[in-house]
Amino acid sequence: MVAKERRVAVVTGSSTGIGFETCLLFARSGIRTYATMRNLVKADIIKNIAEKEKLPLMVIQMDVDKDDSVVRAFKEICNDDKRGITIDILVNNAGFGLFGALEDQPIDDIKKQFETNLFGAIRTIQQVLPVMRNQRRGTIVNISSLAGYVGFPASSVYNSTKFALEGLSESLSYEIEPYGISVVLIEPGVINTNFVKNIIMPDNTLSISSYLFSSSSPPSESLTMAAASSSSSATIGSAKYSDNSKSNRESKYANVIEKFLSHYYPAMRNAPDPKEVAKVILESIEASVVSSRQGTNNNFFKYPVGEDAKLYADAKRKMSDSELHSFIAKRILS
Ligand SMILES: NC(=O)c1ccc[n+]([C@@H]2O[C@H](COP(=O)([O-])OP(=O)(O)OC[C@H]3O[C@@H](n4cnc5c(N)ncnc54)[C@H](OP(=O)(O)O)[C@@H]3O)[C@@H](O)[C@H]2O)c1
Repeated sequence: MVAKERRVAVVTGSSTGIGFETCLLFARSGIRTYATMRNLVKADIIKNIAEKEKLPLMVIQMDVDKDDSVVRAFKEICNDDKRGITIDILVNNAGFGLFGALEDQPIDDIKKQFETNLFGAIRTIQQVLPVMRNQRRGTIVNISSLAGYVGFPASSVYNSTKFALEGLSESLSYEIEPYGISVVLIEPGVINTNFVKNIIMPDNTLSISSYLFSSSSPPSESLTMAAASSSSSATIGSAKYSDNSKSNRESKYANVIEKFLSHYYPAMRNAPDPKEVAKVILESIEASVVSSRQGTNNNFFKYPVGEDAKLYADAKRKMSDSELHSFIAKRILS
């Protein structure tokens, strides 16, 4: 087993939230940590903390949507350590949510959601596998969600990216087991990060969403986020929101969306801190390393995080498909 202070980790989407906290926890535990992010303008906070605490943490630019960015980042990481190329841990964390009714989603936005949440993880896994195979050890941690094992209304696209990530992880674990590599799925419920503010919605859902977001947020959480990339959708925190409620441009699914968001947004208020997720990620890696050392023949692990994630995981285990469907409809739509 490699001592913690000799281990190397790469984390995607480290500018905020779960990725940010995971990088700090890793580095404070002595793991040499590459905090990757797509926009280096956001690097100052983590860099300042690392400098002040003398942490083994380096910031590297990586946009997981882009082949060349991912390849270049891994090259930089592999050339950085004079002791030779090793990467013990990869955390695929970069992601965002595209919510709303499927019929309303522009296909380009759906592709963009898959580009980041699924293909982003595939790109980094393809880069890290040759390194992990050579060293015959490693842990790949994929940040899934409770939406990776239970379908929710108004979430079909986000749900499908996380279900896909779960299927990929489960299947991949068999291929890489002979090389001593483990796969961990982290399945958080609602966590208090910028995730909700960064959600993208179709244009015809924005007014409902912005209204419900504002009424469930503390006054300091004003609507200040940047407009989204596509012309037909925007982040819910965006100042650009059309007051099209009750017009014929309003979604035909407004009722379901409103019910879902009325349940979802307020949950953020008392949601766990991303530090809780970071702790579970670190524990899950220790457990996977111990398991692989003991030769238990198990290299695939799942960790729901938060009371909501545990409740739904339990419901999924114990209920039939139709019972689960009614359970979710009753909790969220009635
Ligand atoms: N918060 C929750 O309730 C929750 C629940 C379950 C699962 N998750 C999952 O947890 C992960 C982290 O989310 P979070 O809650 O920490 O939200 P967050 O604070 O919004 O963080 C998301 C991170 O992903 C980065 N990112 C987005 N697209 C990227 C790209 N193309 N390349 C590189 N980085 C990119 C963001 O960078 P920028 O700062 O540049 O935008 C940011 O650093 C996501 O995969 C999410 O699906 C979150």
